Amino acid sequence: MCGIVGYTGTREARDILIDGLKKLEYRGYDSAGVALQQDGELVITKAAGSVADLEKKLVNNSKNINMGIGHTRWATHGRPSDQNAPPHSSASGEISIVHNGIIENHRFLRKWLTEEAGYTFRSETDTEVLVHLIEEHYTGDLLDAVLEAISGVEGSYALVAASSREPGRLVCARQDSPLIVGFGEGENFIASDIPALLAHTRKTCILEDGEFASLTAESVEIYDAEGRLLEKETFEVTWDIEAAEKNGYKHFMLKEIMEQPVAIRETMRQRIDAAKGKVDPTELDFSSEELARLEKIYIVACGTAYHAGLIGKVVVEQLAGIPVEVDVASEFRYRNPMLGENQLAIVISQSGETADTLAALRLARSKGVKVLAITNVVGSTVSREADQVLFTWAGPEIAVASTKAYLTQLIVLYLVALYLGEGRGTLEPGQSAELVEGLLALPEQLKAILSEENTAKLCAYCDHLSGWGSAFFIGRNLDYPVAMEGALKLKEISYIHAEACAAGELKHGPLALIEEGLPVIALVTQEAVLDKTLSNIQEINARGGAVFAITQEGFDDVGRQASSVFTIPPVNDILAPVLSVVPTQLIAYYAALARGSSVDKPRNLAKSVTVE
Ligand code: G6P
Repeated sequence: MCGIVGYTGTREARDILIDGLKKLEYRGYDSAGVALQQDGELVITKAAGSVADLEKKLVNNSKNINMGIGHTRWATHGRPSDQNAPPHSSASGEISIVHNGIIENHRFLRKWLTEEAGYTFRSETDTEVLVHLIEEHYTGDLLDAVLEAISGVEGSYALVAASSREPGRLVCARQDSPLIVGFGEGENFIASDIPALLAHTRKTCILEDGEFASLTAESVEIYDAEGRLLEKETFEVTWDIEAAEKNGYKHFMLKEIMEQPVAIRETMRQRIDAAKGKVDPTELDFSSEELARLEKIYIVACGTAYHAGLIGKVVVEQLAGIPVEVDVASEFRYRNPMLGENQLAIVISQSGETADTLAALRLARSKGVKVLAITNVVGSTVSREADQVLFTWAGPEIAVASTKAYLTQLIVLYLVALYLGEGRGTLEPGQSAELVEGLLALPEQLKAILSEENTAKLCAYCDHLSGWGSAFFIGRNLDYPVAMEGALKLKEISYIHAEACAAGELKHGPLALIEEGLPVIALVTQEAVLDKTLSNIQEINARGGAVFAITQEGFDDVGRQASSVFTIPPVNDILAPVLSVVPTQLIAYYAALARGSSVDKPRNLAKSVTVE
């Protein structure tokens, strides 16, 4: 995610940048830096850690500096370190930039810049590629150079550049990563989010994808990709700072649920070759012999990440034909698992710091088993200690209840399963292309699920649900782990006791608890077990339970048997968990809201559990 702030005007730039960056720390941080225009030069100061650490380094900085750019980094390419911290400068030191996003063709550009244009790189970041590219095209006009450089770039970016040869000017570009212009009197601002601007101005303009801006203290000009000047409307922000951090949403959890289409798209970015209908997670590095020899996989995780692992098991077994055991990390470490040759351990952890998951990782490695980590945090302990890592590009998750991180974990597990299946030759003809197409369609399908009409429907259902002290979630096959995740979410934040039950197990106990009106949320997305689940719904109906079914479009019988139905778009059954879990997240959210509980910080729970 990262946060950007830029200022040009007459006031002390350092103070404005530091205050703005502090307002953006909710976007995650591991290092921060500023470039300040000072005596005809761009002077860079960086610090690993928080913005407060950067501020300390700047206390003795000279005064009366009126232009600068700042960045708080949440690492993507390159671990958190001073070297990789922003801003980055060109070889001459005349150009400095800050950048959010991912440059997809950075390897190609880096090679070209090194071998053909003679540049030397000082960091591992994709951002450094951009600054050299801008310098390469610079002939006296920064906007021209940025336009030219960007035309050769693929990926997502929010970019702010400054040149010591053009004092007082900032040039900005946006693609798939937010940038907002703030208009002042004799000063102007640019930032990746509104909270960084609100102390100075409420008059703003959001740059759209493909747009560029040139800012000086006196003017703001916005251009399209061909360099044509645009007429843009400004708008007045009426939110307070807290609401602005949540992008106008009432809670971080809701914001994060709504961010899921973007989060999964980012996670797939660069890892799928759509033209070939194949996955291509270039970070993975297993030899074909290694893949062929694999006899068993352990997936180990805690909480929500464990539920992702349960889905991963079914998918890997189906696509790659390798038996998978899934363990809760706190159990795995004490049960003497039969770790040995020809095995792989996959650990999943949003934070990358969960103590039990880390212990499981160390245990597997101590027995000579290779560990692949799936985590959301670059530089986390899990990511550093694992043999291989696949990052989930969900962006920082702030609500304790995990939503977007979970969905991106699922996406990575599909990528891994397809990669293993491909490498082992276990996929059926056309299966890879079909699933790749299905994966790429998911972001739009998610958007449809998150429509106002749908959220209103789920909110209305929660009026009924929130009056109960207990609820069941049922499902079969891939629907069962989704039911487990739905139940966990509901209990975590609404404090309604919720139990997930494999639908076939109802009659072995839980049915005794079904009474008139009791809420039962049934996941019904798997065609192979559709009739079986429908029978289970009838068993519940016969005892007066009120079934709310989450099903796929086209499964018409479900509507005839459940009290109410929520329909997700038609989807390959194997991918359905990515869509069907979203209504359960919203049910938990609206139930918590109706009961007045603390949504983002539920009682007794923590986001990251670094103790046993
Ligand atoms: C805590 C959080 C959960 C999370 C679990 C595992 O219990 O509240 O949301 O799923 O830890 O965390 P990890 O960071 O390892 O995914």
